[in-house]
Amino acid sequence: MSTVIQTEDQPEIRPERRPTGRSVLMCRPEHFTVVYRINPWMNPAEPTDTSLALTQWQALYDTYVGLGFEVQLIDPIEGLPDMVYAANGGFVIDGIAYGAKFTHPERQPEGPAYMDWFREAGFDVRVPEEINEGEGDFLLVGDTILAGTGFRSDSLSHEELGRISGREIVTLRLVDPSFYHLDTAVAVLDPTPGQEHIAYLPSAFDEASVAVLRERYPDAIIVNETDAAVLGLNSFSDGHNVVIASRAADFERQLREHGYNPIGVDLSELLRGGGGVKCCTLELRR
Ligand code: ARG
Repeated sequence: MSTVIQTEDQPEIRPERRPTGRSVLMCRPEHFTVVYRINPWMNPAEPTDTSLALTQWQALYDTYVGLGFEVQLIDPIEGLPDMVYAANGGFVIDGIAYGAKFTHPERQPEGPAYMDWFREAGFDVRVPEEINEGEGDFLLVGDTILAGTGFRSDSLSHEELGRISGREIVTLRLVDPSFYHLDTAVAVLDPTPGQEHIAYLPSAFDEASVAVLRERYPDAIIVNETDAAVLGLNSFSDGHNVVIASRAADFERQLREHGYNPIGVDLSELLRGGGGVKCCTLELRR
C-alpha cells in the first residue's frame, strides 16, 4: 500500500533574513519645534513638546544600540529645528558623502553642517550642485539607488548622484504631498544584492513609477493607507530587525509573516514635524 504525502500544509519556504549590522548618524532633537510649515504634517500653531521629542528619540537611539548598531551623533544647532531628521543630511556610499542642498531656505544651513561632520569623520565629501535632500529621497536597494522627485529632490540630482556613485539610478515620482520624501513611501527591508525586498505605498507614486516598482519588486509588501498615514513605511531595517512606528499594526503583522522581527517605537512628537524612524537615521556606508 502506498501512502500519499500531503505537502499542502507545509509552510512556504522563505529566504532567511539575517541581520547584517548598521552604522548610522543621528541628531538629538534638542532644538526641535515646529515654527514653519514646509510639509502638510507641520502646524506651527500647535505647540510642540521638546522634552517629549527627546525622550521618544532616546528610545530610538537605545533600540539601535541594543541591536548592536554603531550610532554616531552630530551636534544639533540652535535655530535648525529640523536637523533631527538626519536622513536628509546627505547620502553616503563607499565612503563618499554626497551632500544635501535643501529645497526650502529654512533648512538650507543644514547642508554645510552635515558636510562638515562628514569631512571630520573622514568621508570623501562631494558638494552638490543640484537640489537634493539626501537619504530622504535616495534609497539603496541591492546595487540600485531608488531616487525620489516631485516635491523636494530635483531629478538633476539623480543624474549627479549617478555620476558620483557609479550606481544605477531609478527615478520615482511622488504625487501625494503627505508623502513628500521617498522614505515616507518606500521602506527598504532587505538591501542585500540578490534578495532585495521592499515595502511601499502605491498611491504615493505616479502610474509609471508604480509600474516600475511592480516590475522590479513583484514580492514587495504593499502597505495600507492607515499604516502609511502614521509614517509606518518610514522605518529602518538591518535585514532582519525592522524598527517601525509602533502604531503601524498591519505592517507589523505583514513583516512577521515575511520572516522579519518588527520593533515598534513611538515617535509621535517628531511626526508633528513630518518625520519618523527613518527620517531620524542616516546610514553611513564606508
Ligand atoms: N520637517 C522636515 C521637512 O519637511 C521633515 C523631514 C523628514 N525627513 C525625511 N527623511 N522624510 O523637511
